[in-house]
Amino acid sequence: MRSCSPSRRRAAPGTSETGSRATGWTCDKARMKKVLVIGIGVGDPDQLTMQAVRALNRVDVFFVLDKGATKGKLRAVREEILRRHAKDRRYRIAEAPSPTRDPSPADYRACVDDLNQAKQEVFQTMIGELRDGETGAFLVWGDPMLYDSTIRNLDGLKASGLAIDYEVIPGITAIQALAAAHKIPLNRVAEAVTITTGRRLANGFPPGVDSVVVLLDGEDTYRRFVDSKLHGDVDIYWGAYLGTPDEILIAGKVKDVADEIHRRRSEARRVHGWIMDTYLLRRGATPSSR
Ligand SMILES: C[S@@+](CC[C@H](N)C(=O)[O-])C[C@H]1O[C@@H](n2cnc3c(N)ncnc32)[C@H](O)[C@@H]1O
Repeated sequence: MRSCSPSRRRAAPGTSETGSRATGWTCDKARMKKVLVIGIGVGDPDQLTMQAVRALNRVDVFFVLDKGATKGKLRAVREEILRRHAKDRRYRIAEAPSPTRDPSPADYRACVDDLNQAKQEVFQTMIGELRDGETGAFLVWGDPMLYDSTIRNLDGLKASGLAIDYEVIPGITAIQALAAAHKIPLNRVAEAVTITTGRRLANGFPPGVDSVVVLLDGEDTYRRFVDSKLHGDVDIYWGAYLGTPDEILIAGKVKDVADEIHRRRSEARRVHGWIMDTYLLRRGATPSSR
């Protein structure tokens, strides 16, 4: 039995109410838009799962949010993935500029909510490009469950009445790429690991946790832990542009390597115009717990 619900969402700019939504109801299964959310890893086109490659070959329209010239390399990776893994597939690309947000807002959460609202309107326009029976896909950097709003935004669209059915295909995250590149396990034996952002790490190590993975750090927050009298000995495993030919890896005691990381990071950012880096900080290591 089909379940029907009234459609409450207004049309996004540039789209018109069509198909089942024109009737105000979202019950017509044949008109349900199929969307795949495919994790594509963080730069190495060989780090896609077989499931992701099979999914790429089911897609009629790829949805691309263009994040501007500085992200040209990220776009090149996506293009290379399609060249390599979907070469026999005929597909279209629906592209739109990605909405942007204030980089240092007074109210971070409200600003992210506004950004996601704007993204949902863009998503809705792009999904509107699908003809009946076609499948669309968002290629998500790394894995869609980690610091990415694609799933949240699709849920938002569904909740507001857009008739979509989506699947999630996992990808290799920056964290996995970091651990593999440094040849390290993420956790010490039977211990916890916290995943956090540079902004949160600025408040110190989370209580009761000695291993912290840090993403989204524009401020070199690891430098706060160089004083071993205050923090004990803290190790860092740092990686930038993981999985790409520009990959940089540095590891050591943070007090010994922080300046080198800062220098390499600033230099690389100047040369490439952007940087993505991730690191593991670990304090109080004992030989038996490694
Ligand atoms: C918005 S989050 C997306 C994370 C992604 N969904 C994942 O699964 O890895 C972006 C952050 O991921 C990390 N990151 C993504 N790609 C990376 C790469 N190739 N090398 C190093 N860090 C990367 C950086 O910390 C960056 O600030």
